[in-house]
Amino acid sequence: MNQQKPSDPTLKLRGALPLAPAPERCPAPVPERLGHFIGGEVVPGRDESLFTSYEPATGEPLCQVAAADAEEVDRAVTAARSAFDRVWGGMPGAERGKYLYRIARRIQERSRELAVLESRDNGKPIRETRDVDLPLVAAHFFYYAGWADKLDYAIPGQRVRPVGVAGQIIPWNFPLLMAAWKLAPALATGNTVVLKPAETTPLTAMMLAEILAEAELPPGVVNIVNGAGATGAALVDHPGVDKIAFTGSTEVGRIITRATAGSGKRLTMELGGKGANIVFADAALDQAVEGVIDGIFFNQGQVCCAGSRLLIEEGIAAAFLDRLKRRIETLRIGDPLDKNTDVGALNSVEQLQRVQRYIEIGRRQGAAVWQGSACPTPEQGYFVAPTLLTGVQQTDTVVREEIFGPVLSVLTFRTPDEAIRKANDTEYGLAASVWTEKASKLFEVAHALNSGVVWANGANLFDPASPFGGMRHSGFGREGGIAGLWPYLEIQ
Ligand code: NAI
Ligand code: MG
Repeated sequence: MNQQKPSDPTLKLRGALPLAPAPERCPAPVPERLGHFIGGEVVPGRDESLFTSYEPATGEPLCQVAAADAEEVDRAVTAARSAFDRVWGGMPGAERGKYLYRIARRIQERSRELAVLESRDNGKPIRETRDVDLPLVAAHFFYYAGWADKLDYAIPGQRVRPVGVAGQIIPWNFPLLMAAWKLAPALATGNTVVLKPAETTPLTAMMLAEILAEAELPPGVVNIVNGAGATGAALVDHPGVDKIAFTGSTEVGRIITRATAGSGKRLTMELGGKGANIVFADAALDQAVEGVIDGIFFNQGQVCCAGSRLLIEEGIAAAFLDRLKRRIETLRIGDPLDKNTDVGALNSVEQLQRVQRYIEIGRRQGAAVWQGSACPTPEQGYFVAPTLLTGVQQTDTVVREEIFGPVLSVLTFRTPDEAIRKANDTEYGLAASVWTEKASKLFEVAHALNSGVVWANGANLFDPASPFGGMRHSGFGREGGIAGLWPYLEIQ
């Protein structure tokens, strides 16, 4: 699978060296059937609701998952309400903090198992889940554990209290990390939760349920209901839910915003993106190449903050693209559980078809399609080779819409103003990167971008102390940092 097949002789020296397989061997058994976690109990769910979850790297069935209906969602919300009223809402912050620290430590202890399950369920390489997702998951619990007894300082001069029961709906691209982003601040602030994982990635959430039980978190403080859109909608519509936190597509974000209008429910929305990677001629080019690759290929482009538009200063465009292509030719595509894999599988057959459709649309609208060929993509499973689309226009579909795959649309600019104008010419506003060695230019451009997050000479950098979130159609509200507490607090 990882054989070197250079397409052009100049690539010989740079192509990925053939390596022996290096599979991750940590045992992490996949349960045959997943149900729900309600009131501290794992419940099997209804037989007639079972659906199959597939392994992205092979396309083979991975496990059977039950889908919660409105009645099961109601049981979860009732359990959350009762836990809020009886124990969690009124517990001293220092006591709540102890549970969060315990959860964080247990996640660290079991992180390899979690990483393996995540890679099998999501399709992303073990290098990503082991070195990025899992450390961040633990870090989020540690960070918000520290806030639990300091909420008097969360909003200066104000006394605060929890909102109540939070319904949290998360996507499949960072299954456990999105659960951590949602759960840690909610629990630290004294809220109880009903969490709905994405239907294609329920495994790590259910292992987290085990960890919560091991940490002796009081029953009902966190409840997990599996299922697809209908389960999510039942949670959104439940009158006993005080707040909805959603991460996912802009389309479903709009549905939820409409569904909750006038209900008094609080909302936070973390939606799609079309991030710009702006590379100036004076940037450290090899670093920028690495950042561009990290921003779009290491997670198969399945990142809301992916740098899916590359804006290169015209004078260096050809040279930069050349370096980028050479680096792409060294990426290893394949088995997510192989420690040498750089690029794994897309999460589902739907995503695969969607990404292929977008590449076709790009081609039809006149884009030149270039795909790395040094490392062949496996025939089985949901793989797409890293793809560059050049010769595209600002108005092309592939430049405007979120593709959510390893597809990078390449544009050029001549002046900083043109770069800013092009970067801002999108309905989204989640994340962007600016690459230049000149600090004044960096600050000028960064401040002019309509983007919730701007990385300076970097990409996809996360820290629990740093707020993350979007503008415009990328959503509202922030997760992470002190700002991540606010959506879960009422001013008293
Ligand atoms: P989605 O937005 O449908 O799914 C996200 C979550 O929302 C899942 O848990 C899903 O079960 C739930 N959901 C779906 N319909 C719902 C409804 N009516 N009410 C309540 N919850 C509902 O995303 P999907 O269909 O998996 O992916 C489609 C596209 O969305 C992707 O190709 C990508 O462009 C974008 N997306 C963006 C994400 C981001 O992080 N910004 C994450 C996932 C998808
Ligand atoms: Mg959907």
